[in-house]
Amino acid sequence: MKLAGHRGLAGIAPENTLAGVHQAAKHNIGWVEVDVQLSQDGVPVIIHDETVNRCSNGSGSVRELSWQQLQQLDFGSWFAEQYQQERIPNLSQLLACCKELALKLNLEIKLYPEDDIKRLVQTVADTLAQSAFAADQLIISSFSHEALLQCQEMMPSIRRGHLWEGIPDDWAEQLSEIDAFSVHCDYQRLTQIQAAAIKRAGYELYTYTPNDPTTVAKHWQWGVDMMISDNAHLY
Ligand code: G3P
Ligand code: MG
Repeated sequence: MKLAGHRGLAGIAPENTLAGVHQAAKHNIGWVEVDVQLSQDGVPVIIHDETVNRCSNGSGSVRELSWQQLQQLDFGSWFAEQYQQERIPNLSQLLACCKELALKLNLEIKLYPEDDIKRLVQTVADTLAQSAFAADQLIISSFSHEALLQCQEMMPSIRRGHLWEGIPDDWAEQLSEIDAFSVHCDYQRLTQIQAAAIKRAGYELYTYTPNDPTTVAKHWQWGVDMMISDNAHLY
């Protein structure tokens, strides 16, 4: 029974910040899930939305802001005043923090329509290689099948998870194409029959984002291996 803090640990710290990662470690949650995109000048940065509007005191698209501009922004005050020093982490900083805290990482490759898939995956692969982050402490996931194919080509030793909202009918074919390790799906869309079939096929099964442990207790019985939750500290 594994747990991952969603976007760090978004229930109790500003999402996708090092403060959230520290909270996950403090609560002995084994894993964190975070999202990675590229800044305008090609720095891999940890952020979920296409823009910085919701989670910082700035505005604009991530892909149109440089790393230097992003670093000026306050990514914590929107959540709580005590977090006003929080800055957007880059991927190297995030990896170093997870390593230091002995946290396992589910890194989600987050793509928006105008993004360059190859550029993002190549940058992630290069950053992971430089950091020497242990492959057995890491799973890369994405909603983009194309990105996962690129991951397979550029960093074959890193385990791949396919993200879906609802699991598609051709799941077995898609998973085979990317030589997947895991399936990550919306907990509200998962059925017991799907869970059984995926486990029978030998994949790990992860759900996001069940924030009330009591409503999903049955999912452990269904064979779900990990729940990715804003409230992983409450499980
Ligand atoms: O990786 C699980 C989950 O994070 C996927 O959805 O939108 O929160 O990135 P989202
Ligand atoms: Mg995510």
